[in-house]
Amino acid sequence: MALKALASLVSILAALQAANGALTRRVACPDGVNTATNAACCALFAVRDDIQQNLFDGGECGEEVHESLRLTFHDAIGISPSIASRGQFGGGGADGSIAIFEDIETNFHANLGVDEIIDEQRPFIQRHNLTTADFIQFAGAIGVSNCPGAPQLDVFIGRPDATQPAPDKTVPEPFDTVDSILARFSDAGGFTAAEVVALLASHTIAAADHVDPTIPGTPFDSTPELFDTQFFIETQLRGTLFPGTGGNQGEVESPLKGEIRLQSDSELARDSRTACEWQSFVNNQAKLQSAFKAAFRKMTVLGHDVNSLIECSEVVPTPPPPASNAHLPAGLTHNDIEQACATTPFPTLPTDPGPATSVAPVPPS
Ligand code: HEM
Repeated sequence: MALKALASLVSILAALQAANGALTRRVACPDGVNTATNAACCALFAVRDDIQQNLFDGGECGEEVHESLRLTFHDAIGISPSIASRGQFGGGGADGSIAIFEDIETNFHANLGVDEIIDEQRPFIQRHNLTTADFIQFAGAIGVSNCPGAPQLDVFIGRPDATQPAPDKTVPEPFDTVDSILARFSDAGGFTAAEVVALLASHTIAAADHVDPTIPGTPFDSTPELFDTQFFIETQLRGTLFPGTGGNQGEVESPLKGEIRLQSDSELARDSRTACEWQSFVNNQAKLQSAFKAAFRKMTVLGHDVNSLIECSEVVPTPPPPASNAHLPAGLTHNDIEQACATTPFPTLPTDPGPATSVAPVPPS
């Protein structure tokens, strides 16, 4: 009897072990260093290490990272079921068309400046065995992992490359109305207003070269090297100055010397459909991370059935922890906030000590 009980215990243990093995089984990659849940992900480790070293200057959260993130968006948003419903080609979403048809798509007004990063990424695409579509989204996700406070973004591979360019006017412009921006995102992939706000967290690690071409590298918040909530705070401050010449299309006054504000960000921060969502990111690093990660995941597979792709998120490094506390820039107080959310007061934040904040440009690298 005791022997029988022991035998069945042993077989239960063996079954449990097998089930556990099936759940966690990993393949050893040919590089002899890494393991992966899917052998197809193995090749990505070398691509990651190459771009970290040679595109992102040894793992910085600098200009190339910002530009690579912008490129993920400008490629992916190039899809319009509403254009397709009129019998024209509506674009393939995240299909690499922006780089494959660079000569066409970089002439679209909204894509001004993306040729720079396309040209920098091209040799990496040529020396690795990834589609252009996959590389663009991969580079963006890896780059963001260099920014303190960022979420660990998801990565998929298996997107076929574009055979046609995306149509013009699929990328929103900073002088578009909130109506037209929300409609564009909804058409492209059913994004809600809240998801649009979440995607704009990207502007926390961003600068403009072309909105006011006299001041290239002018950031959208005072901490363009940190994935923090300052962007959502500072866009809510009253605009008082133009950092450069002023009078540029798509630009409105900003609250700080050296900082530029897009008309679209300003309006989304103040529109009744988006203002409370915008404010909800203030001093909420956890929401910033989870909402951006989810919206980015959706954006990155636009035009594809996610079940036809292979997820390789394990290749993405863990980003450094947040390195900033939410604050009002030195010289400004709660009275400088233009309260737009009708239902919830703006959170109380400390003001940075010292003389009035003046923001430095993002250095070109
Ligand atoms: C309403 C939608 C959006 C508009 C109107 C918009 C507009 C702009 C503009 C005008 C610039 C400055 C470009 C320059 O002059 O160099 C910019 C920069 C940038 N955008 Fe957006 N954007 C939008 C959404 C997004 C989204 C969804 C992402 C990514 C998920 C994104 C990522 C970036 C990044 C990272 C930069 C900085 C690039 C750099 O520093 O070189 N944007 N955006």
